[in-house]
Amino acid sequence: MTSVEAGDPVAGEPATGEVDVAADVAERFRSVLGHFCTGVAVVTACEADEPVGFACQSFAALSLDPPLVLFCPATTSRTWPVIERVGRFAVNVLAGDQHEVSVAFGSPGGDKFGSVSWHAGPGGAPLIDGALTWVDCTVDTVHEAGDHYVVIGRVTGLGAVSTGRPLLFYRGRYAVTEAPPSGELFDWPRPDDWF
Ligand SMILES: Cc1cc2nc3c(=O)[nH]c(=O)nc-3n(C[C@H](O)[C@H](O)[C@H](O)COP(=O)(O)O)c2cc1C
Repeated sequence: MTSVEAGDPVAGEPATGEVDVAADVAERFRSVLGHFCTGVAVVTACEADEPVGFACQSFAALSLDPPLVLFCPATTSRTWPVIERVGRFAVNVLAGDQHEVSVAFGSPGGDKFGSVSWHAGPGGAPLIDGALTWVDCTVDTVHEAGDHYVVIGRVTGLGAVSTGRPLLFYRGRYAVTEAPPSGELFDWPRPDDWF
């Protein structure tokens, strides 16, 4: 049984014994972790002319040299086995007006690609029209972690940059940013420290 020590901030219990994570902690885990605002991506692949994809917020830049990204599909994902077989995928970064795309790709079943127009990217994975930008990758390494995999991809292609606003996901709801007051880019004093 997976458990956390009582008194741990996740469990929020007195400092004795162990607490079952599965039941009430799961709700609190979702609620607390939902405070971490993310963008929304659709991770896609294509096998034998059949496009597949799923909505994904667990996407991140990982390394600049070599260029790596990561995403985390659930072990139950139907898209992941296809990506694993073809060894390639694309990450479509959704724009602020694409929450319906996220709903379609975040739901099981249905004709996900019937609701969007798309074209094949340089590696064959679908690029969804209207997305803010995209990243094309090959699968580099895969780690199993609890009920998800951590998939590390090597970047093989990058889309154009965009001035559009991203779709955000925050506390279980979709949101869109307001333009920053000045419209200026953040002036980072040490730009080599991070992406
Ligand atoms: C905004 C949003 C973010 C999501 N992020 C993830 C994620 O990071 N990893 C994951 O496995 N599922 C995530 N999901 C759920 C999957 O998109 C959903 O379970 C989908 O039906 C999986 O499709 P598949 O079985 O074809 O892979 C997310 C859903 C939404 C709406």
